[in-house]
Amino acid sequence: MSVIVRPMTVDDFVQVYKLGLECYHVEDKPYNYWSLGEVAHHLQHESALCYVADDGGRVVGFALGAESFEILENTGHLEWVAIAPDYRRSGLALKLIETLVGIFEQMGKVQVVTDISSENPASRGMARKAGFREGISVTFFVRDLK
Ligand SMILES: CC(C)(COP(=O)(O)OP(=O)(O)OC[C@H]1O[C@@H](n2cnc3c(N)ncnc32)[C@H](O)[C@@H]1OP(=O)(O)O)[C@@H](O)C(=O)NCCC(=O)NCCS
Repeated sequence: MSVIVRPMTVDDFVQVYKLGLECYHVEDKPYNYWSLGEVAHHLQHESALCYVADDGGRVVGFALGAESFEILENTGHLEWVAIAPDYRRSGLALKLIETLVGIFEQMGKVQVVTDISSENPASRGMARKAGFREGISVTFFVRDLK
């Protein structure tokens, strides 16, 4: 396995989209936002923050970020990270995250935010290991209807 982390190009589009479908529970928030349009938006408007992990032409992971988080212009947004199941637990997600964090630093951002489902222990573990601390959270109060 000889994986390199490199900027995403338009040729990676289909592989990135399909890998997201494979990795995310797309019926659950926030992963239900995963779509062709979401990938296209990042590549078109946030291309400096789109990276892939490439093993001999196979895209085995990606990280997509955005230059700001909602109205916070000084805050980078680490939005999407996924690693193919057979490449997990080898530090690839951390490598992609560090690449994006380095770019956020170069952009002069003062912090980076990533939003993670409370039901995603792998992602929470990854964020903690990458130096993120838990911040403000929103809880959905649900009333079941008959
Ligand atoms: C979350 C995900 C990206 C982690 O990718 P990865 O390449 O396996 O992560 P790394 O190897 O860099 O692991 C970094 C750290 O994260 C934590 N971690 C990773 N997977 C974990 C798991 N299944 N359970 C608990 N902690 C986990 C560990 O602390 C790990 O360090 P360690 O291996 O030294 O213990 C991967 O599991 C994935 O693609 N999941 C599905 C998609 C998803 O939920 N993406 C995140 C939200 S956008």
